[in-house]
Amino acid sequence: MSKLKWVLYGLGIVFILLQFYRPDISVKKPGTSETDLLQTVPGAPAYLKGACYDCHSNESTLPWYAAINPAGIFVRNHIREGRKHLNFSIIQDYPTDKKVKKLNECAEAVTEGWMPMESYTWMHADARLTDEQRAELARYFESAAAASLARDMNRQ
Ligand code: HEC
Repeated sequence: MSKLKWVLYGLGIVFILLQFYRPDISVKKPGTSETDLLQTVPGAPAYLKGACYDCHSNESTLPWYAAINPAGIFVRNHIREGRKHLNFSIIQDYPTDKKVKKLNECAEAVTEGWMPMESYTWMHADARLTDEQRAELARYFESAAAASLARDMNRQ
């Protein structure tokens, strides 16, 4: 066999072996978390879910190509990283100062334009936000920070 054939076989095997690596992503049904941002702070624009929830909640919807590695590894790692930094499904479980800080960062992220991630908006046209949508989202996040603070104060 020629050298090239061996290289191609080798790559084929690597590709097949790569399919066995699946970082675990558990996905919950929407609306089942009592500490979820959208459940606890009403008034969110409808597109918030489509723009942020795939990576920053337990309600991620995985695209079809996540079934195939290496794309799947890329998608799953973004979800794991995204949830670790900020998980809207459990945000009311965060300590007060942490949730207020994170929600204010969200307002910043959409205003400054570094979220949703660019690699995400390439593939998800519905997550591309206009300037008005970004401004509206930022206002929602700021009011959510205030509402979450008030929620915790009333509890004590
Ligand atoms: C494709 C997945 C993905 C989407 C969609 C996404 N994010 Fe993120 N986000 C991440 C990842 C990964 C990180 C952590 C690494 C980084 O900062 O780049 C992060 C970090 C953040 C942080 C910083 C949190 C911290 O404490 O470090 C904020 C705030 C944030 N995202 C807000 C948002 C908002 C608001 C949206 C929707 C408008 C959104 N993100 C959409 C993946 C995503």
